[in-house]
Amino acid sequence: MPQLAGRFRTLPEYPLATIPQKKRELIARGVDVIDLGAGDADLAPPPSAVEALARAARDPAMSRYGFGFGLREFREAIARFMQVRFGVGVDPVSEVVPLIGSKDGIAHVAFAYAGPGDVTIVPDPGYIAYEGGTRLADGVPYRFPLQPSAGYRIELAEIPENVLRRAKILYLNYPNNPTGAIAPFDYLRRLVLQCRERDILLVYDNAYSEIAFDGYRPPSIFEIEGARDVAIEFHSLSKTFNMTGWRCGWAVARPEIATALARVKTLVDTGNFLAIQAAGAAALDSSLDFVPENVAIFKERRDAAVASFRAAGFACEAPLATMYLWLPVPGGLSSADFAERAREEAGVIVVPGHAFGDAGEGFFRVSFVASPQRIAEAAGRIGRMLAPALTE
Ligand SMILES: Cc1ncc(COP(=O)(O)O)c(C=O)c1O
Repeated sequence: MPQLAGRFRTLPEYPLATIPQKKRELIARGVDVIDLGAGDADLAPPPSAVEALARAARDPAMSRYGFGFGLREFREAIARFMQVRFGVGVDPVSEVVPLIGSKDGIAHVAFAYAGPGDVTIVPDPGYIAYEGGTRLADGVPYRFPLQPSAGYRIELAEIPENVLRRAKILYLNYPNNPTGAIAPFDYLRRLVLQCRERDILLVYDNAYSEIAFDGYRPPSIFEIEGARDVAIEFHSLSKTFNMTGWRCGWAVARPEIATALARVKTLVDTGNFLAIQAAGAAALDSSLDFVPENVAIFKERRDAAVASFRAAGFACEAPLATMYLWLPVPGGLSSADFAERAREEAGVIVVPGHAFGDAGEGFFRVSFVASPQRIAEAAGRIGRMLAPALTE
């Protein structure tokens, strides 16, 4: 029997890996399951993207390898989007990397910037690909515990100097999954400065840049002076355009950094389907019309989630961005036990905080991926499940 590599044993569990199987089991038992687990909305992508895909799929040229360069019109749509949305100018040829979903780039960038023994700083709780990519590159993740009292922000000053000296990558994700936290400009300015002082690559995961409420406009890291020297920013069509399954995203960085990621990718993929990139371009070009309407739907869901979980006895604030509510687990239960009870006793799927890292223990995550009525129904069921414990 071939032996697994030592590295393999260090790989973290993907938090959502077991949910589909458990969900199938519940449905087979006749349970009316409300799935608020994965950040995978039940909404339609922009019609213009669907039409562009259909059109492009009929063009034989689109069936050829995309290679790293991909479709020029996708790169140009990205550059237009960055300019219109953030006022950030990027060169579509040398400063854009098309990705097979942003996870592709987030996981692979460590191969270019973190070698054996190098440290990467990852948020805990956080998106698992930061640690996953680091481990695959034989790097060492330093999990920084995000504290509610500190706005769920990473502070380099709290990391021991001997760790910081070995740090090659800092992963920042605001608006944040799973906590819903956002990052003020001053904070980002400080972190950019610190990364420049220490030559740390700042990986800015901006997957939720467009899912924001109440007038809040999440920034690009490139709105911060000096960020171009040290940052690479990741964007995704998944959440903004309800296109999770299409696997389409991109990175933006100065040419040296963009080329490094693109070079790694030449060895692991040959680009995504060009027709998907054509659809991505159409989606981006529809953003001024599509995004506000889509966000209005998420806002209704957020409001329903906040109101109904409060009514069910949970303390929570309305997040200004993302499609998540991060809630404290009541009654001294572990987050895993709570999620299991919610699933088995209430037919509601949530993600236990521990799945995002040790510091996520004591919390659970609810995604706004069902109608306001279904979210309210889920909160009601959980409230009834807990009623004896909460009134004890
Ligand atoms: C914080 C964060 N970054 C990146 C991604 C990856 O998105 P995709 O690979 O679909 O672009 C996700 C998906 O859930 C996420 O939550």
